[in-house]
Order: sequence, then C-alpha cells, then structure tokens
Amino acid sequence: MGIFSNNKQEHYDITGIELPTHIGIIMDGNGRWAKKRGLPRTAGHKAGADNFRRIARYCSDIGIKYLTVYAFSTENWSRPIEEVNALMHYFKDYLQEALDDFKDDTIALKFLGDRSRFSPELQKLMDENEEASAVHDGMVLNMAMNYGGRAELADAFRQMAAKIESGQLKAADINEQLISDYLYTKGQPDPDLIIRPSGEHRTSNFLLWQSAYAEYYIDDVLWPDYTSEHLNKALLEYSKRNRRFGGV
Ligand code: IPE
Ligand code: IPE
Ligand code: MG
Repeated sequence: MGIFSNNKQEHYDITGIELPTHIGIIMDGNGRWAKKRGLPRTAGHKAGADNFRRIARYCSDIGIKYLTVYAFSTENWSRPIEEVNALMHYFKDYLQEALDDFKDDTIALKFLGDRSRFSPELQKLMDENEEASAVHDGMVLNMAMNYGGRAELADAFRQMAAKIESGQLKAADINEQLISDYLYTKGQPDPDLIIRPSGEHRTSNFLLWQSAYAEYYIDDVLWPDYTSEHLNKALLEYSKRNRRFGGV
C-alpha cells in the first residue's frame, strides 16, 4: 500500500485495505460544474448521471457491498420545473438502460424514498428494476429518490403509531432496532462512509438516522468530475480512521 504519483494524476493504491461495507454518496455539484463551463444546469445533470454509472460500476468492481446514492431529495422539487423535468428524464434513461443490462449484471437495485410522487411510468420502471434485480447477489445499489431523512422518519413513526392504534404494537416495544426496521433501509447495515463532493459540509437530509456513526468525507471536486481515484483517496483515508463508536 502507498501513495505515489506520476506527472499528471495521483494514484491511490487501495490493495489490501479495509473497505467500508456501505458507502453513501451525496452526488452534489452538477449545477456548478455546468455553470463553470457556461452550460445550462441540465447539462451538469447529464454529466452527473453519466458519472453515477461509472462510479457505481467501480464500487461494484472493487467489492463494495452496499452503495447508496442521493439522487433527488424531497426538497429538490422546489427547483425550476425545467430542471426537475430534466432530472426525471435522466432517471428514466438510466432505469430503462439498467433494466436491459440486468440480464448480465449482479447489482441489486433498490429505491429509498416515497415513489408515489413520480410519474406512473417512472414508478413502473422502479418496480420492474427492483423485481428484475432482486435475485442478484452482488452489490446492493440504493438510489435515494424523493428521499428525505425526516420524511423517512415521519413515515416510520406513522406506521408504528398505526400499529399501536390497532393494538399490534406496544409503546414499550419501540427501540432503536424496531425504528431501523421501519426505515427504507430495513435489513441493511448502516453506512460506514458518507462522501460529499462539491465541498459542502452538510447532510442535506441524507440518511439522518442511519448515519449516526458514519465517517464523513468531503471532497471539493464537483460530482461530474469525481473519479475512481478520488474515491480511492477517500477509501484510503477511511481505512486509517479510528472509529470509536463512543468507546475508548
Ligand atoms: C446535485 O447537483 C444534483 C441534485 C441535487 C439533483 P446540484 O444540482 O445540487 O448542483 P449544485 O449544488 O447546484 O452545483
Ligand atoms: C443534496 O444536494 C441532494 C442531492 C445531491 C440529491 P442539494 O444540492 O439539494 O443540497 P443543498 O441544497 O446544497 O443543501
Ligand atoms: Mg447542490
């Protein structure tokens, strides 16, 4: 293991390091990427969507078990309608393509978030992708779409309250494990590493409950420019961190 560089780009050798089981990525910076190039924000989303394909493939190739990407937040509906429409268009493109690719793939696709707000066509593609890839035993790829950590918790509380009302659950039964079981990530391990490109130091409502002990890694690079080498750098740093979980 070691870090060496050639003339152009640094290389980060991740051979033999301890990898996180679950990585979360807040795919941020598409708009700024486009602006820097004098392009419309939608061009940034296209570049970001292409990069998502590359990075997801890379994570699967190096043996990451769970990858959760933040693709669209519950707050992102407040953007101009043209921008929202462009994002929906790129989601549809990806999901159609993924459905074809799944024949020779091992990735299991899942969606985190309230999908009822998407078009019937998109919802159908989401269902079909989940069904078609459910048997795959490779990386679980969670796409957080119309996802908000607070909305997720509110959903969970509503479901638990309904069960209490109908007598199926007692208040005394509510504990941390039970709450986890009512989240969109039910049955999955919590994220170990959360990466945010584009230099912002905030969670923006991503995996609020699940990230209690996640290691955060901020990179200044904008998402469309984020490469496997940037990821390797984050993985190397992660492997050197001392996760204490409140202990000594
Ligand atoms: C992330 O890029 C994509 C989504 C939030 C859907 P942004 O569109 O937030 O890009 P910036 O932050 O404006 O650069
Ligand atoms: C978070 O990015 C959501 C996604 C990347 C999908 P935002 O760009 O929406 O977050 P803020 O507005 O900068 O906090
Ligand atoms: Mg942003």
